[in-house]
Amino acid sequence: MKITLLNGSPRNGNTSKALLCFKDSLDSMHSVVQYNLYENSIKACRNCNCCQKEENGCIHNDDSNKILQTLIESDVIVFGTPVYYWGVSAQIKLLIDKFYSVNSRLTVKKKIIVIATGANPLDNIQYDLIDKQFHAISDYLHWDMIKFIPVSAYEPDDITGQNDIISEIKETAISLK
Ligand SMILES: Cc1cc2nc3c(=O)[nH]c(=O)nc-3n(C[C@H](O)[C@H](O)[C@H](O)COP(=O)(O)O)c2cc1C
Repeated sequence: MKITLLNGSPRNGNTSKALLCFKDSLDSMHSVVQYNLYENSIKACRNCNCCQKEENGCIHNDDSNKILQTLIESDVIVFGTPVYYWGVSAQIKLLIDKFYSVNSRLTVKKKIIVIATGANPLDNIQYDLIDKQFHAISDYLHWDMIKFIPVSAYEPDDITGQNDIISEIKETAISLK
């Protein structure tokens, strides 16, 4: 399978470590690509609607074009995001808004996994909000959201040693066939 990991954290912290753990647990038969969105330049959607009138996609010729093409071709997308103010990071949201320019080409059955890391404990509403947002997006694009993994971690290395979470991440990766 073609698996694309999207890292929405700007630092080498918990999301990066969760995604590395996921990647290391995948069967070698998969073809795997990761984008660290912070290292890419993505301009915000202007709602100019040009992408709806022409075939050429977004008028911004930025790094989102190559990432979207990879997502269109992917069987599995793993979204890794830190929780910023009860939601996903700006890096993730900038890319999600660009889905609008290729909605019809993204509307193909895909498996979706979301890992969301915040400082607050797991009973905080922020994890439900992010889970629901990705379920709504997945329903809209006919995707199959197979797993939401909330992580409570504040300092960049706090995920290390959280064995239950690490096992859940590994098992989710191993389960992909
Ligand atoms: C701008 C900003 C906003 C944040 N907002 C929240 C928040 O709403 N809820 C929360 O639990 N943690 C919040 N945090 C803490 C981060 O989610 C936390 O440090 C997390 O470990 C970051 O993930 P990372 O290590 O993968 O970058 C915020 C951090 C920053 C920098």
